[in-house]
Amino acid sequence: MTLSKIDLYKEVTQQAQALMAGEKDLIANLANLSALMYMRLPELNWAGFYLLKDQELVLGPFQGKPACIRIPLGRGVCGTAAQTGVAQCIQDVHAFDGHIACDAESNAEAVLPVYQNTKILGVMDLDSPQIGRFDQDDMIGLQNLVNILQDAIA
Ligand code: SME
Repeated sequence: MTLSKIDLYKEVTQQAQALMAGEKDLIANLANLSALMYMRLPELNWAGFYLLKDQELVLGPFQGKPACIRIPLGRGVCGTAAQTGVAQCIQDVHAFDGHIACDAESNAEAVLPVYQNTKILGVMDLDSPQIGRFDQDDMIGLQNLVNILQDAIA
């Protein structure tokens, strides 16, 4: 039986809670959450994190092909999310001005800011080869995962 998207996120949220319960280590939690998302969410070709260091996003734990290492704040989908603090749900990255193509196969992208206490820590980034892959239900489900991570590392 295939789970509905909402039921899938419920399960993944429970798994994320179980993985991060009582664990404060940043890298361990980012690594496990990347693996969980890449394993459970369909139609992804990349899932992971960029961490803000000196006005630049630097590649963090991820699953997928090797990716761009440094992204200036304000550049691309990731840099826009980090600078504005607003999650980005991009149906077609080729229509996004300034999109940074790490993999020619990526067509849709979801990026959510991640905070440690009140300070921006970086972004969660998911890529898909499928145009329009991410919708409002994904953004709610992904924000719940970010919230669990933020609670764990606060
Ligand atoms: N496409 C992103 C760059 C990061 S990769 O997708 C892993 C962007 O425009 O910010």
